This record gives sequence, C-alpha cells and structure tokens, in this order.
Amino acid sequence: MTARDISTKIRLLAEEKNAVILAHNYQVAGVQDIADIVGDSLELARAAAERREETIVFCGVDFMAETAAILSPEKTVLLPAPDAHCPMAGMIAGGDVRMLRERFPDAAVVAYVNTTAEVKAESDICCTSANALKIVESLKEDQVIMLPDRNLARYVARFTEKEILLWEGYCYVHDRMTSADVSRARLDHPDAELLVHPECRPDVIDLADYVHSTSGMIRHIYASDKVDFIIGTEPGIIHQIEKQCPGKRVYPLSEKAVCMNMKKTSLEKVIQSLETLTPQMVVPEEIAARARVAIERMLQI
Ligand code: 13P
Ligand code: SF4
Repeated sequence: MTARDISTKIRLLAEEKNAVILAHNYQVAGVQDIADIVGDSLELARAAAERREETIVFCGVDFMAETAAILSPEKTVLLPAPDAHCPMAGMIAGGDVRMLRERFPDAAVVAYVNTTAEVKAESDICCTSANALKIVESLKEDQVIMLPDRNLARYVARFTEKEILLWEGYCYVHDRMTSADVSRARLDHPDAELLVHPECRPDVIDLADYVHSTSGMIRHIYASDKVDFIIGTEPGIIHQIEKQCPGKRVYPLSEKAVCMNMKKTSLEKVIQSLETLTPQMVVPEEIAARARVAIERMLQI
C-alpha cells in the first residue's frame, strides 16, 4: 500500500468508528500526518475532554491515553502501542505520594501529567510543561510538592516565591542533554536561537534563549523573525515545525535524545487498533474518580 492508500484507509476507518486520532508532537512523521490533532500534552488532554467522537485513538504513551480515559470514561480510548510507557511516570508510585503527604502535611501536591492514574489520584492538581508555573501560582499553599520531574520543579522554582519540594524523577530523553551539547550546537549554528524544554537539566536551561513546552516551541518559531533554531527536545517535533513553519531551519540539540516509547506507534498499529477497537485503556473507576479531580482542576485554570 502507498502512503496515500494507508492514509485513506485510516481516515475511512476513523469515520466508520466515529474516532478522533490524537498524536503527540514526538510521534513518527507518518503518524503525525494522519492525526486529527497533533499537540503537546496539554492540548491533547483538552482535546480528549472536548471532542465529541465516541472513540479516541491515542498516538502517544500510556499516561496520555490514561488521562483521556479518566476524562472521558464513556468513550473507548485506544492505545495502538500498549507497550509505550513513559519511564518517568514509573519513577513514583501512589504510596510515595502518601508518604510525602505525611511528611509535609501543609504542602499542596502537583503531579505532572507524566504520572500514573494512581499518582494523580493521590495529588491535588496536575500540570503539564505548558502550565506548570501558572498551576503552582494558583494554589493557596506556600509549600508545593512537584513530582516526579526534578528538572521541571527546579525550573518553576526560579519564578515563584513558594517553597518547591521535588522528587528525584527525570525524563531520560531530556536529562541526557548537556552543556557540552549546547557548546557544540552553538558553534555549529552561531545564528540560531536555542529553545529548550523545561524537562532539561538546570545548567542547560541556564544556557537557553527560551524555555517552552513542545507546542510552545512551535508557536515561538512560527512567530519569530529568526530563521535558525536549535531545539533541546525530542526531534520528532521537527516534522511538525517544518509543516507549520515553512522557511525555518531547525537543528536538534542532541541526536541521541530520542524517546523510544514515542516511536512505538506505527500506521499499521493504528489501522489494527481501529479495525479491532483494541487495545483499550481502561482505568478502574475508584482510581479514575479521584484522578479526574486533579486533572479537571488543572483544565479549569
Ligand atoms: P509536552 O509536549 O507537554 O511539552 O511534553 C513533553 C513530553 O515529554 C511528553 O512526554
Ligand atoms: Fe516520558 Fe520523556 Fe518520553 Fe516524554 S519524552 S514520554 S517524558 S520519556
């Protein structure tokens, strides 16, 4: 089958099954191209909550499909690559959050969306990389536990008066980018602006011109007069930047920064998933009900 045949087949199946296809900015190019919406974690969570289709096909990793299933328990949520796990989400469990609450009873708990449903259920509110500071500032508590990403927590701590307590989790994709990568990229592309993700290490963030979520980077590049950009995030986003921002040149800060789990979704798996309406993401309602409170609180802000 040609790429066009595959795309036509997926669009027909999506219509037949009344499905919306959501894809994260890090998905492989072919998957981005057949999606109804390509976006960052916040945009995709909003789409999952607002779209009317009966079925959501989530081209991303498990916590994203879980979030969609929590927000829309009446819908069928499909994760075409059921083994697409986010290692950072596995770095903290519900019991760890209960332990933190006992140790810091006055603190609010902010869970990054890159967490399991169980962790969200133990938290007060969720955040994404696009809204983390806004979420922290919206809280009445002066002490805030941000989990599990230590880099995102340290980034937010730069801009708030609140005391930020962190968990030692990290995204291996972003945490492996170094200041040596920055020096090399600046030498290779002296006129380029450096945009990095808040999941990067503090010393990399110190050297950046701007810090954005994935879709924040696309909006920044689209609106900028500049032509050259180095991006400190997963290179899957380059396809979306090239589509949305013609005439711009984008270079990855590190060629090694590939999220293998984001690459597990293929067009064949999307077809199979739509044909069979499997594998489904189902979250037990007793956990989903509590996790929903934290996610919906975020979406209201
Ligand atoms: P955003 O797209 O929300 O910036 O998140 C990046 C990420 O690492 C998702 O797993
Ligand atoms: Fe998880 Fe990092 Fe991959 Fe995002 S890029 S899914 S945070 S490992």
